[in-house]
Amino acid sequence: MTTYRVGVIVGSISANSINRRLATALERLSGQAGLELTEIPIRDLPLFDHDLEPDYPATARDLKAAIAAADAVLLVTPEYNRSVPGVLKNALDWASRPKGTSPLAGKPSAVIGTSPGQVGTAVAQQHLRSILSFLNSPELAQPEAYVRTTPGLITDDGEVTDPGTADFLARWLRAFRDHIARELRPLG
Ligand code: FNR
Repeated sequence: MTTYRVGVIVGSISANSINRRLATALERLSGQAGLELTEIPIRDLPLFDHDLEPDYPATARDLKAAIAAADAVLLVTPEYNRSVPGVLKNALDWASRPKGTSPLAGKPSAVIGTSPGQVGTAVAQQHLRSILSFLNSPELAQPEAYVRTTPGLITDDGEVTDPGTADFLARWLRAFRDHIARELRPLG
């Protein structure tokens, strides 16, 4: 089975991010699904400024190169005020420019996220899907993955303590792998 390389962008720079913990859990489960997950850091990106485009910052060039080198991108997003956190939107804006050079175009992607709220990032994920559509990144449509965080659900080192959730995440990763395989299959 081919193992696909997946760049992971976590939409939180908080030291105690529950979404980073979810990303760690997915990394632990990824080997069985035929995926190799590696985080693409976004913490040091400056705020996007159109004026900087002629002299693209090194951090933004690194971001684009890391996305280009991956077979697919996984976005693990918190929900902030029913939308995508600014740090994640900022990273996507940097990845998308200059026009015509976005490594996200044609790159398979998937969206997942966790929050303590009842709707578990559903609204943020819908906004993120809209951005990915515009960037021409074919996203995994189903299954959707809204993970409601409860105390102790995922340990600091990424162990999922609830077997039902662990099973769901493992199946979701396999669906993502199938999606990547379909999207990267040569035409003809
Ligand atoms: C939140 N939170 C939140 N949760 C949610 O389910 N829907 C929302 O719209 C919001 N809005 C929101 C705005 C802001 C500015 C903050 C700081 C928080 C709560 C959020 O889910 C919780 O803080 C998570 O822990 C954030 O994810 P990370 O950063 O821990 O990964």
